Amino acid sequence: MTAQLIDGKSLAQDIRDGIGRDVQALEARTGVRPGLAVVLVGDDPASAVYVRNKKKACDTAGLYVADHHLSAETSQAELLTLVDRLNADPKVHGILVQLPLPAHIDGQAVLNAISPGKDVDGFHPYNIGRLVAGDPVFVPCTPKGVIRMIESTGEPLTGKQAVVVGRSNIVGKPVAMLLLHQHATVTMCHSRTKDLPAVCREADILVAAIGKPRFVTGDMVKAGAIVLDVGINRLDDGRLVGDVDFEPVRERAGWISPVPGGVGPMTIAMLLANTLEGAKRAATGEGVA
Ligand code: GUN
Repeated sequence: MTAQLIDGKSLAQDIRDGIGRDVQALEARTGVRPGLAVVLVGDDPASAVYVRNKKKACDTAGLYVADHHLSAETSQAELLTLVDRLNADPKVHGILVQLPLPAHIDGQAVLNAISPGKDVDGFHPYNIGRLVAGDPVFVPCTPKGVIRMIESTGEPLTGKQAVVVGRSNIVGKPVAMLLLHQHATVTMCHSRTKDLPAVCREADILVAAIGKPRFVTGDMVKAGAIVLDVGINRLDDGRLVGDVDFEPVRERAGWISPVPGGVGPMTIAMLLANTLEGAKRAATGEGVA
């Protein structure tokens, strides 16, 4: 069997086109133009690329962008002052502080300072709690994109065995919660899981988010499984590969997402979707916390 491709790039483009139309309609109806503040501290090259792509996508969809690029020497107090200012700015409906932050800054303290109603990353403890409780406000962008991609296959999730490899707060844990809410039976694997390949082989839905190039090999995948690859790893020769060994896994899986052109573009589309949601709530005067 050769898997069908889950084309995140084209799915994301459709979603972004729809958001562009919604942004115009919202502004015409209410005068509110959705706005995203993007905060980058320092000069990490990967972060700079991610931030540039996010800002470009906002521009294309007609969102307002408040761009804040701060030096690597910015103090935690200065960053918290900026977050406070953005929390109070009525033109800003979403605040994204790009991670990782420099080592001298307590990243959790900064995430905790973002108003939950503007936390389009869904990383604030309030939003994590709402997600776990099954009553989410802002759902983290990559996990939200992963679920949309799985749904795009048309395969029902109810009762399926789902295995998530990787337990990060940003991807693994929220993906597991969302799959659970879709009535899948969810197992989380990590570096200390015993016989991880055997656990993966049970998966009808396999999400790889472990950050190790080509970690999921062909023999770890059940025939016909839906495989989502969240990894973006740069090899020594400059090539970009996922956490899944694409060619052999494609020969076993039923569906597979590529890297690049898979989850990455969906993360950006979901960021726009979350910012639009925030703006709609602001337009109706609806509070969050
Ligand atoms: N760094 C890597 N992924 C993300 C993300 O989804 N949001 C933010 N803010 N930083 C990141």
